[in-house]
Amino acid sequence: MKKLMIALITLAFTSTSSIAGPKIEVLHWWTSGGEAAALKVLKDDFAANGGEWMDMPVTGGGGDAANVALKARIVAGDPPSASQIKGPTIQEYDQEGVVAPYNIDAIAQSEGWDKLLDPMIAAVHKCENNSGPYCAAPVNIHRIDWMWANKAVFDANGISVPTTWDEVNAAAEKLKAAGIIPFAHGGQAWQDATVFEAVAMGIGGNNYYKNCYVDLKESCLRSETTVKVFDQMRKLQSYTDEGSPGRDWNVATGMVIEGKAGFQIMGDWAKGEFTAAGKVPGVDYYCAPTPSNNGYLYNVDSFIFYKTSDPEKQEGQKLLAKLMMGKNFQKVFNLYKGSIPARLDVPMDEFDKCAKTSNSDIKTAGASGGLVPSFAHGMAQGNTMKAALQDIITEHFNSDMSSVDAANALADSVLANM
Ligand code: GAL
Repeated sequence: MKKLMIALITLAFTSTSSIAGPKIEVLHWWTSGGEAAALKVLKDDFAANGGEWMDMPVTGGGGDAANVALKARIVAGDPPSASQIKGPTIQEYDQEGVVAPYNIDAIAQSEGWDKLLDPMIAAVHKCENNSGPYCAAPVNIHRIDWMWANKAVFDANGISVPTTWDEVNAAAEKLKAAGIIPFAHGGQAWQDATVFEAVAMGIGGNNYYKNCYVDLKESCLRSETTVKVFDQMRKLQSYTDEGSPGRDWNVATGMVIEGKAGFQIMGDWAKGEFTAAGKVPGVDYYCAPTPSNNGYLYNVDSFIFYKTSDPEKQEGQKLLAKLMMGKNFQKVFNLYKGSIPARLDVPMDEFDKCAKTSNSDIKTAGASGGLVPSFAHGMAQGNTMKAALQDIITEHFNSDMSSVDAANALADSVLANM
């Protein structure tokens, strides 16, 4: 009997210690071809380091659906061990007391994240109002203000890459006259807002963008410039096709890849789709910043880690944080994802010309006041204010609302949510 007890105790002990290994449940919205290929780099790294990855994908570009699912789990007291997150929302969840900073900060300190990241990007990932311990990790920098054009379609129609919004409209008119869908667009609220912010920065300028969409100044939102931005949105809407409402962003990218449409205005995750389809910039497609005065709308993808009492998940959080900020990971992941590394010391020589443009433009923009956070992708505002802006932009885009009414509605919506 005694022997049996000892045997059972030994068995119990060995089996607990032998199953112990890093585990992670990750809530994310990376389900398109390019996004999934990029995420696989992380999943493979995690598995190669003995980790068990539990995947929780929530489809829907831009992450609106994923953010709703995440919120529901947090409210129910059952957060995942890690999730995708954006800018100011990191602080919102920290204030709710659900974030587990200290695990991650120990990794950040031993790996020297403060030296590897731009101080502004580093601060975004620190809890306690951006000055406490690290509680989230950045994997990349996406640029929003891009135009993706089918090279053969542009060349065949004698169109060169537009450098002003009037040229964008002229190119679209030419394509329309040739019977080609000019503007590949997915009519979903977040895609409308993505296009809007590129137009706003381009037409209004960098200070206008900051006053309206970062500082939320009422006079700016109601201004004549906002009216002009909505006028340009109305023009772009007239260049979409009948199938646009509800279309996913990657389907719209596919239309450009296949030459069914001329161009798309979308962040550089769209490049991930071109890459997944084996297409090469300058050969099969053009990538060009949308017209602006050295502006750069940035969007950082990050992961945040939630409190858990499970030691295997705590180990998983540490492992994931370490892998995500790894030098080689940030190179390989971003080659697939279309973005550029968040780490400053990753060599760019293996990246294509679009990524190299992004990498040099971000420095120019940073030095000249043109580096501005995307509101459509949650970098400038939390989810509530983002929705307040997005709702009006999409309402205008999908109705015959006048530009003046839209500018006033935008200001009213912001005031109502302050
Ligand atoms: C953005 C995100 C990108 C990409 C895109 C479309 O918000 O930063 O990584 O996933 O949504 O889903």
